[in-house]
Amino acid sequence: MASRVRIGILGAGTVGGAVHDLIVDGHLARFGVEAEVVKVFTRSPESKPRYRVSPELFTTDAAAVTGHPDVDIVVEVLGAGGPEDLSAQKEWVVDALRNSKSVVTANKALLVAHGEEIWAAARECGREVRFEACVGGGIPIIGPLTQSLSAERPAAVYGLLNGTSNYILTEMSQRGRSYEDALASAQALGYAEADPDADVSGRDAEAKLLLLSSITFGMRLQPGVIHRKGIERLHAIDFLYAERKGRSTIKSVALARNAGGALEAMVTPMMVPERHPIAGIDGVTNALFFKGQVSDGGAPDANDWDYVFAGPGAGGGATAVAVLGDVHALVASSGDTPFLPVESIVPGVDAVRSEDDLRASFYVRFVVRDQSGIVGELCQIFGDKQINVSEIWQLEHGAEELESLVGTGKGGAAPEELLPFVITLEETSVGQLRQALERIVQKDFVLAEPLWLPIWKA
Ligand code: HSE
Repeated sequence: MASRVRIGILGAGTVGGAVHDLIVDGHLARFGVEAEVVKVFTRSPESKPRYRVSPELFTTDAAAVTGHPDVDIVVEVLGAGGPEDLSAQKEWVVDALRNSKSVVTANKALLVAHGEEIWAAARECGREVRFEACVGGGIPIIGPLTQSLSAERPAAVYGLLNGTSNYILTEMSQRGRSYEDALASAQALGYAEADPDADVSGRDAEAKLLLLSSITFGMRLQPGVIHRKGIERLHAIDFLYAERKGRSTIKSVALARNAGGALEAMVTPMMVPERHPIAGIDGVTNALFFKGQVSDGGAPDANDWDYVFAGPGAGGGATAVAVLGDVHALVASSGDTPFLPVESIVPGVDAVRSEDDLRASFYVRFVVRDQSGIVGELCQIFGDKQINVSEIWQLEHGAEELESLVGTGKGGAAPEELLPFVITLEETSVGQLRQALERIVQKDFVLAEPLWLPIWKA
């Protein structure tokens, strides 16, 4: 027998429009779900393509969706905004729950900022809040981690959680494009958030990682607590060093792992060896690697993986598929069992490792004005901080590569005066590295803030 479900949508942007289209086109019908769009909230209905066909579906009053007597499920796809937007969105979601509607959201920033209140309202009202689309676009991640793999004991989750960053880094790596050029393409292709800073600074991936940390390790963290570094300062020459000297590439990795009872979490560009499958995940594709202790018999090493999820991490169609998957799950579950995965997990960690205490081997790229004795001075400073230098890498650079480094540094040096080179460091802490670099940047010969990245621990 077919199940009928009536949907109200908050948001009619790229994702909202795609959700609407999939419903109208009957994409859940083959599973016996007859879905119908009852009301759509948007601030500017006249600009939406479907408004011309069905103007009566649209409203500029969110309460006309969250309180609509015929709506069973509210789909919230408004997208991230500032704190005031998030606060209003939270009120609408809570209002929907209080009106006995379950909610499907694609808004990770909303859950990170107001998750506690939303879960509390869901529990109180006996309704569900589902959020598959919040992490990894169309890839099923939340469902597998909280249901299919609920008997696992998590050791680590890591992966590529921002399609825009992965696209930009792939373009820089494979085509030698500049960061600015690759970002412009990502925007033209519609991958980047309205504010691309959320993508390239790592904030979007951070929000996703915080949700994953919550459902895997029971750690509910706020933005700003974990180590986060964006991709903005990477340069095409970093990929040359990674490839030619390090047999690696550079990926923006989001990582959370149980490090002996403390959560070690970060979002940062990282040198990853070409032999690791994460190195081959290119373009806008996202991937998540999950390491469990049950599947490998309890081995403590959290650096490999047991399960891999990969697929389209951005784009309206993929995100809408995840949203409709949640709608389908709600119809199948009848929607009255609060879906509160955070409470169902076995706590694995009880503290967060501070940024300064994170340990790794590092890649550090310098741009200096060439003169004798530079390497000696740098090694002296690293030595004073008990940091072991591993290797020094230096490539020949053509005029064009050097030209593109002008302006990254101080002192208005001409291209022929610039000397880029890399020093790799054996395992040390972020805190010790920062202290060493604080001394190094005071040297006159240092023309640009050194770029440092962790090296994936094999
Ligand atoms: N803009 C995001 C990305 C998709 O590039 O992955 C939504 O989180």
